[in-house]
Amino acid sequence: MLFSVLTVGGISLTSYMIVTDSMAAVARDRPVRVASINARVLDMQVRELERDLGQGESLSAEDERVAMAEFLSQAGTIFGERAPAEPQIAVLDAEFRSLWQSSDVAVVSGLDDKRRETLRLGEQTASEFPRGSFFSGLVGPAVLSIHVAHAPIVLPGGGQGLLEVSYYPFREEAVIDSIRPPMLALAVFAMLAMTMMMQTSMNWVLRLVDDLRSAADSVDAGRLDVRLPVGGDHEIGELARSINRLIDRLRQRAEAQSRFVADASHELATPVAGIRGYTSILRAWGAEDPEVRAEAIAAIDRESRRMARLCGNLLSLVRSDQVAHVKSVHFDANAVAREALAAAATHHHEKGLDVVGPEEGQLFVTSDPDRVEDVLSVLLDNACKYTPDGGRVELSTRREQESVVFEISDTGVGIPPEDLDNVFERFYRSDASRNEATGGFGLGLAIAKTTVDVLHGSIEVRSTVDEGSVFTVRIPRG
Ligand SMILES: Nc1ncnc2c1ncn2[C@@H]1O[C@H](COP(=O)(O)OP(=O)(O)OP(=O)(O)O)[C@@H](O)[C@H]1O
Ligand SMILES: [Mg+2]
Repeated sequence: MLFSVLTVGGISLTSYMIVTDSMAAVARDRPVRVASINARVLDMQVRELERDLGQGESLSAEDERVAMAEFLSQAGTIFGERAPAEPQIAVLDAEFRSLWQSSDVAVVSGLDDKRRETLRLGEQTASEFPRGSFFSGLVGPAVLSIHVAHAPIVLPGGGQGLLEVSYYPFREEAVIDSIRPPMLALAVFAMLAMTMMMQTSMNWVLRLVDDLRSAADSVDAGRLDVRLPVGGDHEIGELARSINRLIDRLRQRAEAQSRFVADASHELATPVAGIRGYTSILRAWGAEDPEVRAEAIAAIDRESRRMARLCGNLLSLVRSDQVAHVKSVHFDANAVAREALAAAATHHHEKGLDVVGPEEGQLFVTSDPDRVEDVLSVLLDNACKYTPDGGRVELSTRREQESVVFEISDTGVGIPPEDLDNVFERFYRSDASRNEATGGFGLGLAIAKTTVDVLHGSIEVRSTVDEGSVFTVRIPRG
């Protein structure tokens, strides 16, 4: 409301000032022009009269009187009676007495200083006689200044005189007065229209904000199925779309989280069930049958190791996500690769694999060496695990413009095409390799993927069933 009053008020005031100023300029200009033209006319008249009477000789007092009377009657004929809205004309002598005037108000009082200045300078001057304030026309009838122009003239007989032209700007005031009512009406109308428009748009914005607030409340209360109305191609619509995307992401996260917890519990439940089963067996027959006892103890040992490994993997998964502890070290990627390869080869030595490492030489990169080694260990462990005895596992490295590349290839069982998109998901295991021998949890690649993401790198896989797989990891060179 205040904004619309200020805006419309400002616009009205500016238009009033423009109109009033141009009217005042017209009023200022008129007497100046009239005075300069008529001073020249009077001058010519005097010279003509003097020529007629004395041919340039000095006039007698009688001649002078006659010439003056003639001059004033001619002035009276030329200028005559003047309507109030026309420039008023007066002929004054050197003592500023009126010799002739076009109306009662033609001589403006209080301008003796200006008259004296005109005579002293011997040239035309202009002055202004204020009657009211510039802004009076805003609230009542407009009152503009009287403008007066003085021009020095020579009277018959050689005496100094003055032509005084005064202009009462009644016509200009009338123009201002005539535009005031429509201007005020327009201002009031504009103010009302603007207030209504702003009220409507404010209501609209407030309604949208209210929608956003209730959506935020719902999300806060745990409901992630709310959607904000997104109609319109405006900023609020954009904001609603962003919030909807945010809610979607929150929902996906929440779903992934519960899926993860369910999967983890399920994976933990299996060894726990095994341990409980073998504990019952121990309790029932363990005392009598040493064979049963040894078998149960071995099984409990196996299951508890599996549980410990699962807990370790879960911890690794949580840690792999923590951006805060990522190191930035300048290190030789080839050295790290060789270490990881040696560890994997030792771990799977009984399989008799042909394990090939990177070429001689160094390959420097600035990243987190521990995390890079974690990723390589996961991939090499898989390569060894899913490659039959006597197969080949190779880890090669190379430099690219922006990154270093690790390529882990094997001649293993391969991954079916339909599983390739899913192998990086938590707890996902391809059916082809889901056998007791490998005994994994499906967490290795998820850990590798999260770690590579944290290092701003990438990981991808190509694979052919029964031929082998190639995992390619790119780490930015830093
Ligand atoms: N080199 C590979 N060759 C064939 N299949 C593979 C290979 N690497 C991964 N896979 C498939 O992808 C699945 C997911 O691998 P991932 O490393 O995440 O889990 P895992 O090896 O089964 O268990 P974990 O690593 O948690 O002990 C595996 O179960 C396997 O089916
Ligand atoms: Mg694995």
